[in-house]
Amino acid sequence: MPSSNTTCPIHRNPITSEETPAVGITIDGLTKNFGDLHVLKNVSFNVEPGEIFVLMGPSGSGKSVLLKHIVGLEAPTSGRVLIDGRDVAAEDTLEHVRIALVFQAGALFNSLSVYENLALYPREHRLGNESEIREKVTRALQILSLENTAQKFPSELSGGMKKRVAIARALVMEPQLMLYDEPTSELDPVMSATISEIIATLKDQYHVTTIVVSHDRELALGIADRVGILIGGELVSLGPPSELQAPKDPRIADFFSPKIDLKNPRFKQRQG
Ligand SMILES: Nc1ncnc2c1ncn2[C@@H]1O[C@H](COP(=O)(O)OP(=O)(O)O)[C@@H](O)[C@H]1O
Ligand SMILES: [Mg+2]
Repeated sequence: MPSSNTTCPIHRNPITSEETPAVGITIDGLTKNFGDLHVLKNVSFNVEPGEIFVLMGPSGSGKSVLLKHIVGLEAPTSGRVLIDGRDVAAEDTLEHVRIALVFQAGALFNSLSVYENLALYPREHRLGNESEIREKVTRALQILSLENTAQKFPSELSGGMKKRVAIARALVMEPQLMLYDEPTSELDPVMSATISEIIATLKDQYHVTTIVVSHDRELALGIADRVGILIGGELVSLGPPSELQAPKDPRIADFFSPKIDLKNPRFKQRQG
């Protein structure tokens, strides 16, 4: 378990093989309101360097909003997010750490080939000349066994392939921190297992600190070092994935194994 490991794992850049200490994250009393809507309520947890932390919870529980705080797309109402001890709200924190967020829908540009999609970020950020960028893109495609798709367009790819391309595009950013928002949603169970294997392989080979937001219990059981469960903006559970096997909290049990009740259907109950 990473949390019992006192020496910090070494992150190896998947593209350049450069080695640096893996980064850790602290979510400290994070509260977020949108007007009267209380989306995150005093949420605190750490993600250890080189760990896979899976954040689960029902739709609307605040998972994506929490991820957006880590990349600075949302600012806390109160509380802090620290990356390696530096507050994300401070001006230069995000300049010191490379974070890749893999969006739920992949967010690929449909008018660009796979190659062009991957080359976009390094070109915009001038991460080398054209031949260096070609090397980076080729390396990312190799890691994900996508060499044959370089000249294809997103519309020619299956859902699982698109997710892999989105992960390859994230790798080209040479991230120290990988954030995935629902990476297996809309995939069949075999494709979902493939994506889980990719996430775990990237963590094992490169010690890239990883947060996965997901409903996918198989993914959590298969690859998480630890799992947090967010319900109604509160972190109601934090622990190893084995605790998901027989949850005692009725809210968590209902999230994992909702019982269909035609006598008292949920859509006719008042939603809290
Ligand atoms: N920018 C925003 N303005 C107002 N409400 C928002 C905003 N972003 C998210 N919300 C609301 O916050 C709640 C949590 O959203 P989200 O984090 O996307 O949930 P999920 O757990 O499904 O990812 C939802 O009720 C959503 O409508
Ligand atoms: Mg979401």
